[in-house]
Amino acid sequence: MLIYLNGQLVPENEAKISVFDHGLLYGDGVFEGIRTYNGRVFMLDEHIARLYRSACAIALDIKMPPEEMAQAVVDTCAANDTLNGYVRLIVTRGVGTLGLNPYLCREPQTIVIAADIQLYPKHLYEEGMAVVTAGTVRNHTEAVNPCIKSFNYLNNVLAKIEAINADVMEAVMLNAQGFVAEATGDNIFVVRGNELLTPPAWAGTLEGITRQVVMRLAKEKHGMDVRESMLTRYDLYTADELFLTGTAAEVIGVTVIDKRCIGNGRPGPWTLRLAESFHALAAGTGTPIKS
Ligand SMILES: Cc1ncc(COP(=O)(O)O)c(C=O)c1O
Repeated sequence: MLIYLNGQLVPENEAKISVFDHGLLYGDGVFEGIRTYNGRVFMLDEHIARLYRSACAIALDIKMPPEEMAQAVVDTCAANDTLNGYVRLIVTRGVGTLGLNPYLCREPQTIVIAADIQLYPKHLYEEGMAVVTAGTVRNHTEAVNPCIKSFNYLNNVLAKIEAINADVMEAVMLNAQGFVAEATGDNIFVVRGNELLTPPAWAGTLEGITRQVVMRLAKEKHGMDVRESMLTRYDLYTADELFLTGTAAEVIGVTVIDKRCIGNGRPGPWTLRLAESFHALAAGTGTPIKS
């Protein structure tokens, strides 16, 4: 595998960064997870734009124009023949001292890994997934705002541990006020009649790119009444359908939450329709990897 590291494609065993990098020492950095489908990078511009917004929010000057970053993603996919895969794009704060001061880190490190991912087993996409609500609350928006896609995933890891300890694969996180935020690596949607509801960013959720695509498809293609809304556990327990979205997860139905069955216990018709429309769009759009 060839890894993009600061402008060069190097073999995996040569792709190394310093133990003094603040990405490692302090979780000081930002990243993106991006998918490729049929030889195209899906929603590349949107991912690059979010990366730069995350960097801006933590006062990290990437020192590389977004167009060059996008090209680095495409080139790494081409070099590895990642035509149907998953890309991890990482920008670390760079090498600094053992103190926190990020301004002493002069050179951000840019890494692109083009590989693959299977977040949940395939059969769960047909059968639906069981989740729990976590006791760990999602980061406060005035602490590390969940809109920042930073290396600081410990908040999510703690909730993931709760899920695994409860023998399920995913946890839904609430915010400090008790409103629904998101899952540990996915956004959450409630279907109620013809309505499609999802928490707004200020509930403490990442503005997911899959979320954005699904909201658009639901409104424009399926005529659903799509709204951002503060949601409580009541809304989850009484939903007609529940599903999660994410670049890695794509669209997956949730059929059990806190041991309560949703609908008839199978992924619902809207979930399946939206998943199908999502895959149709993903299969036919995106930035070509090889011209
Ligand atoms: C915490 C969190 N929420 C939501 C998402 C979904 O976002 P996207 O659809 O952009 O992958 C992700 C995945 O990146 C995530 O890590």
